[in-house]
Amino acid sequence: MCGIVGYIGDKQAQDVLISGLSRLEYRGYDSAGIATIEDDALRVEKKKGRLVNLENILEKTPLSGKVGIGHTRWATHGVPSDLNAHPHASVNREIAVVHNGIIENYMPLKEELKSQGHIFVSDTDTEVIAHLLNALYTGDIVETVQIAMGKMKGSYALGILCANEPDKIVAVRKDSPLIVGLGNGENFIASDIPAILNYTREVYLLDNGEIAVLTKDNIQVLNIAGEIIDKEIFVVDWDPGAAEKEGYDHFMMKEMVEQPKAMMEALMGRCCESSISFTGLKLNEEMMKQINRIQIVACGTAYHAGMVGKYYFEKFARISVEAEVASEYRYKNPIVDKNTLLIVISQSGETADTLAAIRLAKDRGAWVLAVTNVVGSSIAREADDVIYTNAGPEIAVASTKAYVTQVGCMMLLASYLGKLNGKLGKADAARICHSLMMTPGLIDKALETQEVIKAFADKNHKIYDLFYMGRGLDLYTCMEGSLKLKEISYIHSEAYAAGELKHGPIALIEEGTIVVAMCTQENVFEKMLSNIKEVKARGAHVLAIVQEGHEDIASEVDEVWVIPNMDDDITPIPAVVYLQLLAYYLAVARGCDVDKPKNLAKSVTVE
Ligand code: AGP
Repeated sequence: MCGIVGYIGDKQAQDVLISGLSRLEYRGYDSAGIATIEDDALRVEKKKGRLVNLENILEKTPLSGKVGIGHTRWATHGVPSDLNAHPHASVNREIAVVHNGIIENYMPLKEELKSQGHIFVSDTDTEVIAHLLNALYTGDIVETVQIAMGKMKGSYALGILCANEPDKIVAVRKDSPLIVGLGNGENFIASDIPAILNYTREVYLLDNGEIAVLTKDNIQVLNIAGEIIDKEIFVVDWDPGAAEKEGYDHFMMKEMVEQPKAMMEALMGRCCESSISFTGLKLNEEMMKQINRIQIVACGTAYHAGMVGKYYFEKFARISVEAEVASEYRYKNPIVDKNTLLIVISQSGETADTLAAIRLAKDRGAWVLAVTNVVGSSIAREADDVIYTNAGPEIAVASTKAYVTQVGCMMLLASYLGKLNGKLGKADAARICHSLMMTPGLIDKALETQEVIKAFADKNHKIYDLFYMGRGLDLYTCMEGSLKLKEISYIHSEAYAAGELKHGPIALIEEGTIVVAMCTQENVFEKMLSNIKEVKARGAHVLAIVQEGHEDIASEVDEVWVIPNMDDDITPIPAVVYLQLLAYYLAVARGCDVDKPKNLAKSVTVE
């Protein structure tokens, strides 16, 4: 989704902005642009398509100036085009704006501004902000921004330049993330930490309604009333290299390879000597006695981790749990009150629908526990309690290492609650802990099978659809594998509970249709065999994934991948890696842009 970067200092702003925007490319975008001020004049350059298109123009006609703002746009209002790209400038070329979010009342504002003679050149809601600031300008851009904030409805993170006040950048946040980076003789703004990680690790995390005024040597943060706020410096502990490809062809491959380490980080300090604990978690035994309903809410891959979580809560803590996608939960008047524990899962910590679900549940008195990867993210800050997944920065749009750590945290949390409510015995807790500690090694084993998976993908990459089927925990692994495949390879895919195929989807199976049968759960293994026979009878080409000991399934299917023997409860963690690799190699074989799939964004900050 859209990315923002801004710079003020002694360097040429263009260079810092382009370097920052290149680090935001992973978020997904369809146009890019920058604006600088030099000799009190505003300069803007923007271009549809990849950042390289903009760079090609800037190579011929650079924008000089030591203050500037930049943007990568993911189209919402108006098609991807040069004109709709940000920054947007006022007609008198005095004010330029980059914007993440949506101005909900942009139509009435636009009409009013048009009636005052403002001429619009784009279809965007953002252009309205530039004109509005121009119309309201009092000679003081900070004061003008405060007035404009009273008129705009919706969500916005803004970077603003004013040619009359060339020594400052103004940044504002309302319901869309924005950080301010603290440098030495230079300062920055960004929508995401990686954009400025090469320059500084010290940041202010802006809160809703806050305005930051940056000069080269100073940063002031104000509330909407204009009062100065004392902000705490947040020190980012990510290594700048963590947001680089480090020799891998794609971030997705690098992040898949990092999964054993990510799992170790997620388990560290929480799973030791056969017991499970969460330092810093406020949710305790007393509070759990008051809870009579648990809901898990998330989107996409995080929702799949939530489904696995629901299975674990019911198995280990014997608590009934509802799991729902955030975009449905928030619009259906959910039954949620002060006796509800709402668990939200989000890699980015910025997903708009998940944030809205938190706000709804909090308004009704629920206790909100967030499981997220990004320290200081909006979700982490708005929740009552946080469990960090500690996977390290995830750049590829297709989530991999975040998913396995989310599942790991769900298993830990379910066991922890089972311990609190007395439903999980010591021996089982010890077994879970021991099994979880095996997952890094098991993921390593999965990564070692890349050649086999690549060969399968190279042979089959021309397929137009692929089915996954599984039972119990395998179903969620299938759902996640299917999502991964869709998002990066654009192959149509379905994931079904194996027993459900005969109720409809089996009609789609024809000669040669590939069906991946995930068969890691011993209690339903025989049932899976029956389902395999059903699709084989309709011509399917079946690839079965089984644990060691079930190699003889080979006589029933076309291909078998044997995974190491493990506790059935932890299979969602290593088993999904085989499906991630399958999606990856199919996408590569089809020539797809794995890290930047079409139409998708890493951080979905619009509803
Ligand atoms: C994962 O591969 C997807 N890109 C997507 O489904 C993602 O998981 C979803 O948008 C939720 O994001 P979040 O975890 O940052 O909230």
